Amino acid sequence: MVGAGANHGADMGSAPAIQGYFKMALERTFSIIKPDATRRNLTGKINAKFEDAGLRVVAQKRIHMTKAQAGVFYGVHAERPFYDELCEFMSSAPVVVQVLEGENAIAKNREVMGATNPADAAPGTVRAEFAESVGENSVHGSDAPETAAVEIAYFFSGIELVG
Ligand code: CMP
Repeated sequence: MVGAGANHGADMGSAPAIQGYFKMALERTFSIIKPDATRRNLTGKINAKFEDAGLRVVAQKRIHMTKAQAGVFYGVHAERPFYDELCEFMSSAPVVVQVLEGENAIAKNREVMGATNPADAAPGTVRAEFAESVGENSVHGSDAPETAAVEIAYFFSGIELVG
């Protein structure tokens, strides 16, 4: 995104500028396919739901986090009673970290994921279909543009994001 949109006003009228202008409507969000899902070989089925909703996987890798790495990622929850359990779980098996791109990608991804607690998730959502519990709920997705930027940067370098 470096430079993108910074001077779109000055360039309006040329084809590349128009393409750049429309690209600005695209948003990126960060997603994790969690250990409960990778253990059950659900990566493809979950990605199909993202893609069917119009989200593009523009970066993706399978990693096995240490508990400390998971702890930093979920640092905002450090005071919650479930923090240790959450970090233990997120480092218990490989995860797939990914960047999803699309129009309103953050909201769209949250819609596709469903509510955090699968008991409350709408039918057809990832969590309604696949999550095992509120803790082992198959997917994580960013909740706002600011957190998406921080979460993407924690796992990916710019050159790994291929839109
Ligand atoms: P996620 O979207 O990854 O963000 C924080 C995570 O904390 C959340 O999904 C849940 O998996 C987990 N979480 C939230 N509430 C609880 C809970 N009561 N017990 C265990 N884990 C929880």
